[in-house]
Amino acid sequence: MQIARTKEELRTMLAPLRGTGRMVLVPTMGALHEGHATLFRQARALAGAGTVVASVFLNPVQFNDAGDLAAYPRTPEDDVETCRNNGVDVLFMPMPEEMYSADRSITVEETHLSTVLCGASRPGHFAGVCLVVAKLFNLVQPTDAVFGKKDYQQLAILRRLVRDMDIPVTIHGAEIVRGEDGLALSSRNARLTPEHRAAAPCIYKFLLEARADYAQGAPAAGVAAAVRRKLEGIPGVRVDYAELVDAEHLHALADERRTALLAVAAWFGDVRLIDNIELQRS
Ligand code: PAF
Repeated sequence: MQIARTKEELRTMLAPLRGTGRMVLVPTMGALHEGHATLFRQARALAGAGTVVASVFLNPVQFNDAGDLAAYPRTPEDDVETCRNNGVDVLFMPMPEEMYSADRSITVEETHLSTVLCGASRPGHFAGVCLVVAKLFNLVQPTDAVFGKKDYQQLAILRRLVRDMDIPVTIHGAEIVRGEDGLALSSRNARLTPEHRAAAPCIYKFLLEARADYAQGAPAAGVAAAVRRKLEGIPGVRVDYAELVDAEHLHALADERRTALLAVAAWFGDVRLIDNIELQRS
């Protein structure tokens, strides 16, 4: 595996690999866990004899809260090993000064899907995601890119980004990877107190209950409200949102024959966890 720390090094490493098959990009912010490793392996399977590129870049522009950025776990040495052991060919690990000019003045903003769910409570977050992903697409020029469904809204927004900007990259969504107790893997889980870590698997339990209720005809609003109520019954938990929306445009579900998304964000102490599940009427 080769490691590029500058854009120039990245261009030099990728030049001989272009045109030799697919080039599959997996962007990450580091603190890699089994969920990321799964994305790398999926990228490896997609690329075949082509190239898998991973990026590890803690993108400051997508954090609307400086405290959240400061507290974000950083494990660069382990991240290199995780990439090496899971089929990555080229790892791009730039510093913020390498990625951004001090006087940068271009924004990339999605204006419909970004206004709801996490976008409503994290202003500027998705513009920061779109900016960095657009830059990574320009730098790497991948044929394909893989993103996890845990950040379902991000995935939907990035599909829009490539559609509306005619970026020639095929986006692939990867299923959520969960621990044995059902908790969705996240870099933030490491910051939970032992009590909150023990309680957190209930998020998925409540989502599964909601899926069963929805399949049996329970009203959409009632299903989301029940998840909120159950979460709020746990000591130290504050719900940011629990909403049932259309899985594609993320706004109100007008047609119940379409796939719905039940998405949740909740604070367990000072750690904000997100999770989601796709729902269908049976
Ligand atoms: O999902 C993430 O880790 C980040 O939002 C991404 C896509 C790597 C952009 O910084």
